[in-house]
Amino acid sequence: MKVLVIGNGGREHALCWKLKNDSKKPEIFCAPGNAGTAALGTNLDLVATDVEGITEWARAHRPDLTVIGPEAPLCVGMADALEAEGFRVFGPRRAAAELEGSKEFAKEIMKAAGVPTSAYAVFTDAEKACEYVRERGAPIVIKADGLAAGKGVTVAETVEQAEEAINDALGGAFGDAGSRVVIEDFLVGEEASILALIDGEHVVMLASSQDHKRAFDGDLGPNTGGMGAYSPAPIATDAVLEKVRTEVYDRTLAELKKRGITYTGVLYAGLMIDNGQPSVVEFNCRFGDPETQAVLSRWEGDIIPALEACVDGTLSEDLISWTAEPSVCIVMAAAGYPGDYPKGDEISGLAEAAEHAVVFHAGTALKDGKVVTAGGRVLGVTALGTDLREAVANAYTAVEKISWKGAFYRKDIAHRELKRS
Ligand code: GLY
Repeated sequence: MKVLVIGNGGREHALCWKLKNDSKKPEIFCAPGNAGTAALGTNLDLVATDVEGITEWARAHRPDLTVIGPEAPLCVGMADALEAEGFRVFGPRRAAAELEGSKEFAKEIMKAAGVPTSAYAVFTDAEKACEYVRERGAPIVIKADGLAAGKGVTVAETVEQAEEAINDALGGAFGDAGSRVVIEDFLVGEEASILALIDGEHVVMLASSQDHKRAFDGDLGPNTGGMGAYSPAPIATDAVLEKVRTEVYDRTLAELKKRGITYTGVLYAGLMIDNGQPSVVEFNCRFGDPETQAVLSRWEGDIIPALEACVDGTLSEDLISWTAEPSVCIVMAAAGYPGDYPKGDEISGLAEAAEHAVVFHAGTALKDGKVVTAGGRVLGVTALGTDLREAVANAYTAVEKISWKGAFYRKDIAHRELKRS
């Protein structure tokens, strides 16, 4: 069996790792992949959003299953193009991926469906947007409508910060993606990430997790793509998860269906949980990163039957089971991330770290046979433990074996749950 994974991050390395360990023993291809995926299969010299190039490769090599990792290829219609040629694809089509591709569309769907989420308004005119913010007050959230490589969301603590974010977005900082801004009320509570597999009809929620978005310890510093995650996130109790199933997933899918849109693949609900009530902060049309590294580490048994069931419309709960052991993923990043950062620094200690944890590669590349940095988030060091404290200790033991010039990581991943326990 041949499986093609599209993308080059830590999420894609984790997907390739889980696929490689499947009892079907598939041959793995990754477009374009990183140094980690190169060790599991064949990296393809193709850009993840190159619909024509990837379709051409598929015609020539006939993958039995294609798994699309990032949002960008999904939002340009990669799944549509491959399916049109008869290939089996895990990932939503373009119309369904708009749940992430347009924040306004996601809000409109949630409002129409009665999904709990914050109040919002949409603007193309900066002065009107600033007037709305002055009326509403801060904290308040400013989002570029379209995809902005994770940089389009500002949680403004003051009206001045909000005005600056509005002027930046509508002034062209994110190109077309920021030509409309969605302004949302700030939600209070604690965050959790729920990833659910969907086959168009059935929804199976994966183990919960919690991401750490800020760059520095104590949840300080700029927002990032995520500096670490752990699973499960006990804040997502069974009662919360039941509400997520009925009030978030069932209502969203019903509303999409009313509009003739079928969702298949994974739908990630970024939640804020306040007093047992979940509200949706954002939808993503893909697996989370680094949540996937933590969640897939706890998945027992094969992944291919569940992914194929999403394609075939035969998804059921019994296809997935979880180890009770918690997992923790610590992201190691390059100096300067999420701003500018150097590339090409040699990474040492990977083999020693692998004795304690699974080291998922994100921004890495091979140069003269050596693993070097090639991105902002470089590695996701992921470990299990008999309890959360042990998982955290195992992950940090591995992290401490790894070094390169300017490497940094948060030292407090899972701090909320560790304090509670
Ligand atoms: N970790 C956040 C995301 O994947 O969007």
